[in-house]
Amino acid sequence: MKVGIFIPIGNNGWLISQNAPQYKPTFELNKQITLAAEHYGFDFALSMIKLRGFGGKTEFWDHNLESFTLMAGLAAVTSRIQLFATAASLVMPPAIVARMTSTIDSIANGRFGVNLVTGWQRPEYSQMGMWPGDEFFSNRYDYLSEYIQVLRDLWGTGKSDFQGAHFHMDDCRLSPQPQADIKVICAGQSDAGMAFSAQHADYNFCFGKGVNTPKAFAPAAQKLIEATQVTGRDVSTFVLMMVIADETDEAARAKWDHYKAGVDEEAVAWLGVQGAVDKTSGADTNVRQMADPTSAVNINMGTLVGSYASVARMLDEVAEVEGTEGVLLTFDNFVEGVEAFGQRIQPLMNSRVEVATPVPTQVGAVQAAVGAAS
Ligand SMILES: Cc1cc2nc3c(=O)[nH]c(=O)nc-3n(C[C@H](O)[C@H](O)[C@H](O)COP(=O)(O)O)c2cc1C
Repeated sequence: MKVGIFIPIGNNGWLISQNAPQYKPTFELNKQITLAAEHYGFDFALSMIKLRGFGGKTEFWDHNLESFTLMAGLAAVTSRIQLFATAASLVMPPAIVARMTSTIDSIANGRFGVNLVTGWQRPEYSQMGMWPGDEFFSNRYDYLSEYIQVLRDLWGTGKSDFQGAHFHMDDCRLSPQPQADIKVICAGQSDAGMAFSAQHADYNFCFGKGVNTPKAFAPAAQKLIEATQVTGRDVSTFVLMMVIADETDEAARAKWDHYKAGVDEEAVAWLGVQGAVDKTSGADTNVRQMADPTSAVNINMGTLVGSYASVARMLDEVAEVEGTEGVLLTFDNFVEGVEAFGQRIQPLMNSRVEVATPVPTQVGAVQAAVGAAS
């Protein structure tokens, strides 16, 4: 199974809690985390795009770097790990994204790909006068289908004359073209989103579900299998999960309970309001899943809480779900979490036996020394 890391491009990562580590996103932090992930054999790193936060006491996601520029920096300091940036398709014309991709492909020497999103939160775009109107909720994947055709034209042939409802190319050129076959992620969960992935993307990402229910996302993986039966294309599922691990199940559970006790209600409430704006995507839309009170403290992304051995066992269960190629991980504490994954969890995973366990990074060596002394 492939393993990726969803790096913390926004403040506080994915925990909306006053009791969670409080930090701002910086290049240095993301560099440290990505280099450690590369060291431990992670297959890829992805950063999201978020243009407006949730506020509240923790100012959740009010502080966010931009995805392509961050990944360009990381491309220059890494050498093996695959990198993906997220394109906010409403505000970044495809011809510009195609050229930014070529540029980062050159920096990364063929290790770069793109996550395409339509956007689901009106204020991100209305704040800059770029929201096309609420009809976008129902036609956003038609828009994205045109968008990707322009990208594929330019990446593949260096030229596009695409004529559609949203994009009108007139002998549009791109040179240099990327050296790699650029892989495209989409994280569509709605019928239209899945149909888009089955038709155009290489990978579809979905949210995990529940706490310590590693296979609960299986229906989403199945939905993608059915969508690809229609298109005949090979598209696999990757699932997003948060790992909260410690020496024992009890110690990990105590951390999780502590984060939940400090939930930033104001920020979570804002998410609930945003989720209710889109009336078109159906009651099971992921945006509504994110705001569900069960585990809104980490946007209900699917959570694995337990000892290193328990988490390894649950990750192996993820790998068993049909259609699943990989997992995208977040951590409560990214610096310690990547280290613990590399040293304590991954070596126990049957689905990662091919990955060697290298010596600890500097952070890991310090952790081991502190552990031995206490
Ligand atoms: C792993 C993952 C990453 C995502 N990254 C972003 C992002 O960077 N920006 C964004 O606006 N939406 C992001 N989304 C939301 C999806 O693009 C998508 O809109 C959402 O899953 C709902 O599916 P739908 O668009 O088919 O309704 C992400 C979702 C997942 C699961």
